Amino acid sequence: MIPLTTMLILTIILSAIGTQAQEQQQLLQLGQEVYENHCSDCHRSNGEGLPVKFPALKGNAFVLGDPKPVLDTVIHGRTGKLGQMPAWKEFLDNNQIAAVVSYIRNAWGNKAPTLRPEDVAPRRKN
Ligand code: HEC
Repeated sequence: MIPLTTMLILTIILSAIGTQAQEQQQLLQLGQEVYENHCSDCHRSNGEGLPVKFPALKGNAFVLGDPKPVLDTVIHGRTGKLGQMPAWKEFLDNNQIAAVVSYIRNAWGNKAPTLRPEDVAPRRKN
């Protein structure tokens, strides 16, 4: 027989894991909404972008790499070889930015750690 205290501790751990998984799912769901509303016109719903116009985010090493420059690009925008990536700092809050960057790092077969609003706040100042 498993002692009652052990059962209790196990139950608490399992429900904590469950909550975490649920939070991840909610984050990615919000990220998908933000993406469809604000990003998919250019980068397209399938993340493949458009050749010579909008970069693909699917299978993109930059998107999957160090999250700081990815956050900077989304927060502050960027003008590059392909043109203008708009800045989102005025339009999206920290939670929405964490969600959409988490989404592009985990959609279309992409796999990279998700982000939290606390990761976004310090990048706004750069
Ligand atoms: C009006 C079109 C447009 C919209 C809308 C747009 N982007 Fe972009 N995005 C671009 C362009 C153009 C570039 C490439 C800029 C360059 O040449 O450096 C880019 C670059 C990027 C990059 C860097 C890719 C790389 O390989 O360096 C990321 C990440 C990105 N966009 C994410 C997003 C997200 C997330 C959203 C929505 C919140 C979004 N974009 C909305 C046009 C757009």
